[in-house]
Amino acid sequence: MGDTSPDAARWDARHAVAGPGVPMPPGALRGREHLLPAGGRALDVACGRGAVAAWLAGRGFAVDAVDVSPVGLAAGAALAPDVTWIEHDLSTGLPVSGPYDVVVCQRYRDPALYPALAAVLAPGGLLVLTVLSSVGDSGGAFRAAPGELAAAFPDLEQLVHVEADGEATLVARRPG
Ligand SMILES: C[S@@+](CC[C@H](N)C(=O)[O-])C[C@H]1O[C@@H](n2cnc3c(N)ncnc32)[C@H](O)[C@@H]1O
Repeated sequence: MGDTSPDAARWDARHAVAGPGVPMPPGALRGREHLLPAGGRALDVACGRGAVAAWLAGRGFAVDAVDVSPVGLAAGAALAPDVTWIEHDLSTGLPVSGPYDVVVCQRYRDPALYPALAAVLAPGGLLVLTVLSSVGDSGGAFRAAPGELAAAFPDLEQLVHVEADGEATLVARRPG
C-alpha cells in the first residue's frame, strides 16, 4: 500500500531527511505523566518516526504503531524493535480493534477517525490527541474548528482540553 499512496510518498520524503529520533512522550502528557495507566496495551496512530511509540514501549506498554510511511516506520523500528509497526493508510480507517489502555494520535487530524479512536479505548483507557487548530491561527482546511475535540468525544471524561496557538489538545479517559 505504501508505494501507491500519495500520502506515503509525500511523508516518506519528509521522514527520509529527518535525523535519528529519540523516544519522547506525547507533548500533551509532558508534566502529566501521572495520567498514564500503569501498563497494558498502547496504540500510536500516525506514529511518524516512532518517538512516542518507543517512549510508551520504554514505559512497559505493549505498543502497536500505525503509519502510512514505510520510511517513518523503519526509523521507529530502529528505535524500538519490540513495537508492532503497522503500515496502513488511515483514510481507510483503523487497522486494529483494541482494546487499548492508551491511544495517542499526535499531529494527525482526520475527524472521520474520531469514533474509531474512542471505540478501541478500554474501560479506564486514556486518549491523548493533539491536532492543528484554527484557535490562535488564521485557520485553514486542515485545522480543527473551535471545540471540535471536546464535541467529538462526549462519552469520555475530559481531563485536559486546551486550544491555543494553533493547536488543540484533548486528554480524556473512558469511564470504568
Ligand atoms: C505531522 S506527522 C506526526 C507524526 C507523529 N505523530 C509525531 O507527533 O511526531 C504526521 C504523520 O501522519 C502520517 N500520515 C499522513 N497521512 C497518513 C495516512 N493517510 N495514513 C496513515 N498515516 C498518515 C505521516 O506519515 C506522518 O508520519
